[in-house]
Amino acid sequence: MIFTVAIDGPAAAGKGTISKAVARHFGFAHLDTGSLYRAVGVKGGDPIQAALSLTQADLDRDDLRSLAAGQLASKVAAIPDVRAALVEFQRSFARREGGAVLDGRDIGTVICPEAEVKLFVSASAEVRARRRHKEVGGDLADVLREVIERDQRDANRADAPMRMADDAVLIDTSEMSIEQAVAAAISAVTAAFPTR
Ligand code: CDP
Repeated sequence: MIFTVAIDGPAAAGKGTISKAVARHFGFAHLDTGSLYRAVGVKGGDPIQAALSLTQADLDRDDLRSLAAGQLASKVAAIPDVRAALVEFQRSFARREGGAVLDGRDIGTVICPEAEVKLFVSASAEVRARRRHKEVGGDLADVLREVIERDQRDANRADAPMRMADDAVLIDTSEMSIEQAVAAAISAVTAAFPTR
């Protein structure tokens, strides 16, 4: 069975938590596509070469979740050749046998426009900054600035900008608990996948 769940949305909206829970619930594989861009960003050197030669060790680095890695990621993510180098891997993951959940910015629009389910997970910038602050610590104002700056860069780049697909379901998690957001996502997937 080929079945893709595309989960897009701005920084720290809860895509990672929701994606993992949806993948676990349905027994699908999960790919956090942001980790690819984070790994390219922190690898250093020529970002196009880095994207072409990413290894599992690059993806296993323990500094990928830092604010600095997020900033580096959104800078290299604006380079068309970097994105092009990562397309094939993401597309074949999306259409692998057994079902897949991918989270990112352009999954429903560019990587897998044929995805059976598209979710756009969002929340206010303040709520997202508070959540990311719990994860990375530091100064809340710095985290808020980082989140807003990255969203602007991601939404305004020329190649594959962050955008909600026309046929995506919007889940605004500003006022939701994790459990509620996960339940909303699972019910959107179930609606497209009624045999579960
Ligand atoms: O976890 P968070 O939402 O903060 O970010 P992420 O999903 O790890 O993505 C890090 C950065 O990678 C984003 O700010 C984007 O610039 C870039 N990205 C992208 O361009 N396309 C994707 N499909 C996924 C991430």
